[in-house]
Amino acid sequence: MDPLRCTRCLAAIDAQLLSDLRPLQEVAAQPAQPDPACQSWTGRFQRPSPPKLSPRKARSWRGSTVHPTKANCAPATSVAVESSRPPRRRDTLWPQLSTQQLLSVAVAVVVLVLAAHLLAPLPHGLVQFFATKPHWRVTSATGITLRSPFVFTSAPPTCPKPEQQVEFAGTFYTHTKRDMALAQEAQRVAAEFEFGPDHVRKATKEFIREMDEGLQSEGTELSQIPTYVTAVPNGTEKGLYMAVDLGGTNFRVCSIQLHGNTTFSLTQSKVAIPRELMVAKTSKELFSFLAKQIEAFLKTHHEDHYFSHLERVNTGDTKGHEVFNLGFTFSFPVNQIGINKGLLMRWTKGFDIQDAVGKDVCALLQAEIDELGLPVKVAALVNDTVGTLMARSYTSPGKTGTLLGAIFGTGTNGAYVEKLDKVSKLTSKSDAGTYDKSTGEMIVNTEWGSFDNSLRTLPDTSYDKELDEKSVNPGIQMFEKRISGMFLGELLRLALVGLLKEPKIPLFKDEDSSKNDVHSTTQIHDNSPIHQQWGLDTSLLSICAGDHSPGHRVIRQTLDKDYGISAVSAEDAEAVKVIAAAIAQRAARLAAVAIAGIVINTGRLETSSGTATTEQKTGIEPSRGQVDSSGRGDVPEEDVIDIGVDGSLVEFYPGFEDEIRQALREIPEIGDAGEKRIRIGIAKDGSGVGAALIALVAGRVEQAIA
Ligand code: BGC
Repeated sequence: MDPLRCTRCLAAIDAQLLSDLRPLQEVAAQPAQPDPACQSWTGRFQRPSPPKLSPRKARSWRGSTVHPTKANCAPATSVAVESSRPPRRRDTLWPQLSTQQLLSVAVAVVVLVLAAHLLAPLPHGLVQFFATKPHWRVTSATGITLRSPFVFTSAPPTCPKPEQQVEFAGTFYTHTKRDMALAQEAQRVAAEFEFGPDHVRKATKEFIREMDEGLQSEGTELSQIPTYVTAVPNGTEKGLYMAVDLGGTNFRVCSIQLHGNTTFSLTQSKVAIPRELMVAKTSKELFSFLAKQIEAFLKTHHEDHYFSHLERVNTGDTKGHEVFNLGFTFSFPVNQIGINKGLLMRWTKGFDIQDAVGKDVCALLQAEIDELGLPVKVAALVNDTVGTLMARSYTSPGKTGTLLGAIFGTGTNGAYVEKLDKVSKLTSKSDAGTYDKSTGEMIVNTEWGSFDNSLRTLPDTSYDKELDEKSVNPGIQMFEKRISGMFLGELLRLALVGLLKEPKIPLFKDEDSSKNDVHSTTQIHDNSPIHQQWGLDTSLLSICAGDHSPGHRVIRQTLDKDYGISAVSAEDAEAVKVIAAAIAQRAARLAAVAIAGIVINTGRLETSSGTATTEQKTGIEPSRGQVDSSGRGDVPEEDVIDIGVDGSLVEFYPGFEDEIRQALREIPEIGDAGEKRIRIGIAKDGSGVGAALIALVAGRVEQAIA
């Protein structure tokens, strides 16, 4: 038998080797006693001159190298030592230990376990310092950490991040005092964004007051701009139309085929507006860019018409040639003086081109279109909220026309159907442009982004103040700055930066990174957008609200990938989530103020009446009356108050509508019963379709290129 497999032989060897409490030389003189029953051990124990070591070192030296020669089991007197052989398991060692030795081992084990527990809450940096496993941040940037004191010039080895992920479960904030501090601070900041039922009620009253004021006079906080659009579509309209939409972020060009049965087909191209054009020196720079996009769209999607137009122009044969009538959605406050005429009042959403203010934006666009010789006429000027209202009314089910079109996107605003005789600043004007009075109604663009600029009822935290002071338009669009997508990310950023400045608050600090899932040092990279104005996108709030993964993995990955904050802990992510939720909740509750103000002030809760087109809603397929159209619950169709909404916030922020509804119920004039009657529906891409519809309503668009 191989003595290496003979347990008793091994025990004998082990016993000898364990005697390292004595000097090794002594051991060499004492022969080991192999098991006499083993017949295969013929080797001799032979110990070559061992190094002179302390007993402790000797033990490890011996433990890793002893190997008996294979011969027979006759007693031998020496041990062969091969220092290159791998260590073997000493599972026969323990039976040879004395009780005292066993006790010492047990005590050592207990001490080790206790030490591991006590060391765990130590600052992660310290623990990392002792760690031997190399680790690199998962980024292409070079960097030095305590644990990896190397600078990489090329990409460091890829960290096997997914495998290293640790599942977090249960409640946070129970680990250390520091965690508690972070949790409490996050709650404190969140509380600053509270906008309770009393605030909602007070602000709604103020909204109604400003609505009436704006209908009577110019220069008020709520601009209440008459749009000259006096009827909403009923879904039977047909034809091919064109529209462009200059919003806050993108410029869209589209052609729309209305099918006449509440449906439509849309062809569109979209381009991001370059930042430098938003703040260009002259309006020409911006408007010539827009005209070029229209040209490119025509060349791509309406090639025949475009080239036949060029040919006719070249041969001088333009008589009777049809041009596209275009609806121009311009999503900024404009003092409208006709269906295709409007003077820019002020820029919003980060635009700032001074020479355009006070000018007719339709004329500015038309000039650039003409310069390119395009077969296009700007036929109608439309705010995106008006477009949304029109589009929703064209497509919405039910007998009643839509009351309100609202945008909760980069900016915020609403347009609603008002009784013409209430728009006294228009009706009393002798030089007002022409408009159809027969419907007795007109769509009014509220420009509610500027509601309560003087902050009578709006909340005003230190973050709101700072955001406003550093904006391009301090003191205006105060409602918008608390609600819309352009600003919510910035509010979150300012709140987080406030916490970062506080040394006692462990946000994105290394103490917490022992609980992150990559066990690496938490770092805010130098070029992290968190240090730049507008650096955090409002989509982060939606991500926070939608992340229900253990340990908020999605939030942490987003902070790492998109915001240069690597290896954050679950507690960090929780803090970000709590603050983000409070900011979004306040935005939704403020949005409810505007909706409530319009629903209450138009008297729609008292009547079942629809808007100007209600009676004409017949003859459409499917018939409106047969479409499922109830509000919430069993509300009769004629009692439904229809609202069309669009914009990234309302579309993508989870639960935005629920928060609005909660606040609506808290307003006594609306309450549970009123809230149930309100139907809120997305009017996707409404502004484009709406612009085409208004070009149609303007009566200038025939089936030009059918
Ligand atoms: C503009 C409005 C627009 C809203 C939504 C605001 O900044 O002033 O005209 O309707 O954004 O795009």
